[in-house]
Amino acid sequence: MTFKIALGGDHGGFKAKAFVKNLLVEQKHTLHDFGTNNEDSVDYPDFVHPLAEAVEKEEFDFGILFCGSANGVCMTANKHPNIRAAIAWNAEIAALAKQHNNANVLCIPGRFLNESELEEIINSFVNATFEGGRHQRRVDKIPC
Ligand code: RB5
Repeated sequence: MTFKIALGGDHGGFKAKAFVKNLLVEQKHTLHDFGTNNEDSVDYPDFVHPLAEAVEKEEFDFGILFCGSANGVCMTANKHPNIRAAIAWNAEIAALAKQHNNANVLCIPGRFLNESELEEIINSFVNATFEGGRHQRRVDKIPC
């Protein structure tokens, strides 16, 4: 199965985003990269808000954000009412974010993962599906 995926992040996540972009292109997904496009220092909200708005409008199946720690991009994305952004640092956490929380944005700590970890995490999230049921009830209670 292939998806429409939005990518974005800051300089701290640029290398990880470039690696993941190649991986997803090889897997024939449709991608849009909201930037940043190099390792020059930038402010992550400038890249997160446009991606989050597009995911909220369902222009993409989901988004993947990258920064150094994943915290900045995740905090920013979760300010959007219809975004459920989750940080993942291993494959199981990534799968659970989709299976139990119906995450529509995955947040990657680019400075703390090697390429093999990145590949495992991305494949795990992309191939997971939301389980619904009791998890749907809980997800419905998330908005304030
Ligand atoms: C940038 O140096 C770094 O602060 C950023 O990538 C991210 O980790 C913020 O949460």
